[in-house]
Amino acid sequence: MFYSEEIIEEVRQRNPIVDVIGSYVHLTKKGGNYFGLCPFHNEKSPSFSVSASKQMYHCFGCGKGGNVLTFVMEYENYSFPEAMEMLAKRAGIELPQQEYTPQMKEEADQRTLLLKMHKDAAIFYVSMLRSPQGKPGLDYLKKRELTDETIRNFGLGYAGPHPAALYRYLKSKGYTDAQMKDSGLITIRERGAGDRFWNRVMYPIMDANNRVIAFGGRVMGDGEPKYLNSPETKIFDKSRNLYGLNVARRTKEKYFLVCEGYMDVISMHQAGFTNAVASLGTAFTHQHGMIIKRYTDEVILCYDMDGAGRKAVLRAIPILKEAGLRIKVLSMAPYKDPDEFMKNLGPEEFKVRISQAVNAFIFEVDTLRTQYDFSDPEEKANFFNETAKKLAEFSDEIERSSYTEAVAKKFGIDYGILRSKVNQIGNQVGLTRKDEDEWKPKSTVQTKKTKDHGIREAQKLILTELSQEPGVYAGVRRYLAADDFTDDLMRAVANELFAQLEQGADKLNPASIVNHFIDSDLYSEVAAMFSSAFTEDLSEDEKRQALREAVGRVRENSLEKKIADCTDPMQLMELLKKKNELKAGRIEL
Ligand code: UTP
Ligand code: MN
Repeated sequence: MFYSEEIIEEVRQRNPIVDVIGSYVHLTKKGGNYFGLCPFHNEKSPSFSVSASKQMYHCFGCGKGGNVLTFVMEYENYSFPEAMEMLAKRAGIELPQQEYTPQMKEEADQRTLLLKMHKDAAIFYVSMLRSPQGKPGLDYLKKRELTDETIRNFGLGYAGPHPAALYRYLKSKGYTDAQMKDSGLITIRERGAGDRFWNRVMYPIMDANNRVIAFGGRVMGDGEPKYLNSPETKIFDKSRNLYGLNVARRTKEKYFLVCEGYMDVISMHQAGFTNAVASLGTAFTHQHGMIIKRYTDEVILCYDMDGAGRKAVLRAIPILKEAGLRIKVLSMAPYKDPDEFMKNLGPEEFKVRISQAVNAFIFEVDTLRTQYDFSDPEEKANFFNETAKKLAEFSDEIERSSYTEAVAKKFGIDYGILRSKVNQIGNQVGLTRKDEDEWKPKSTVQTKKTKDHGIREAQKLILTELSQEPGVYAGVRRYLAADDFTDDLMRAVANELFAQLEQGADKLNPASIVNHFIDSDLYSEVAAMFSSAFTEDLSEDEKRQALREAVGRVRENSLEKKIADCTDPMQLMELLKKKNELKAGRIEL
């Protein structure tokens, strides 16, 4: 931990989870809990629950969960110290700096340092652009018809011809070689240090909170590569960042315009379309999709009108769809990209194109259509088969039938015939899936895995029950100690939970236990077990019975493990005796 347990707890407790999460997600009260649409996966009905009494969240759909700190970390892509800072500020708590251990402090400071270094670099590049040496850069931007205001708003700069200008500047600001080494801005080699970027117009890449986290540099003239980008660093994760999002997130429009590059975003913003973002040359990822989904339900793809652009659209569609976004595709024909379009036809005409953007499915079918020659009846039939397959993928019946109708109309084919084809394919798909499951061979490896899984589930069930009904602890502790939990995660949780329960049931504080886990998979699982509903449907008697069985299994498993590891004959006798007693006796809770 970077901070003392006490200060972490204070920050956590002074930020009521319902208030904090409620500012990001629309929550509705249902019984003792609050529910909303999960911000971490796509869903139509709310399975994301927030418990005010436990101060934890848990999604029954995707399994993500945790406390208020982990929520902010996941949602804002903050490190733990950054989440602490934000929540401390929110609650008006002053964080003591000296609470860091020296080693942890170094790690935490690395991010802060890189952010500061990037800010300094951005300032340097801007001043270069405005200096006599920056003339080629400024001329270039003027030639591309960017206004002074746009250049300023996007923080555009210039890396001059000197191969180590930024390096020297950062040195003068007190940064060391070691600090610069992993920044992605400077290359440190045996023969000396040098800048990554030179002779390029510089585009700072900002995160959603307006912090510079990377750069893209465009070559002057026809050099290669046209755009050189920062590599991934501690502060730059390509799969999570979108160029222009810091501005687009505040749009009042109901959709985002998604385009390919820096210049596209900039010229759209300059033309008044401040809801434009770009994924910057990298492929769209699931995270990109989910991040966009936080701000809007619809995207309009404005990719280049060439072969590469069409391909990129086809790749992006399923990913954006999975995030639950409605997708349209905009045509800029006869122009190549938004930048050219704006220069030639202007924003008013672009608005017309927005209103004419076609639905992604229609775009896909249109693209498919170009691959078949309709004068050949066989090819025509193949096209409709392929299209029917795509139509069958719609799980929503109304959607499926309205698209089937649209396609039939568009290509002049009988609706009834196309529909029966679609249904036929739909049924086949359903059948094959079922068969696969039933005929899956069960290997011995799987059986062993299943057993381990069973023990793990039993350990989890005990911890869940203890957190729901601390009263059973008195009984459980007669059979089990935290050490008996063989699964590493369960043991870690048991250690904390047992320690709290030893102090009395009123000292139970599951949300504080979540503080001990920094890894997302781990704290999600811990939160899941504390808000778990896997015993919810059971009656009191059934619950007690399930707990008894679990305690018996976990104790037996632990004894077996100890027996297997035991080398001392006396101790072995003792262990075997205990195991036999366990078999003969009954667990009394
Ligand atoms: P384009 O080649 O379409 O660039 O690449 P552009 O935006 O039209 O640029 P200009 O108008 O010629 O200056 C689209 C995007 O792909 C990424 C960049 O983010 C670029 O904006 N890209 C392209 C790279 O990262 N590296 C490259 O070498 C080329
Ligand atoms: Mn382009």
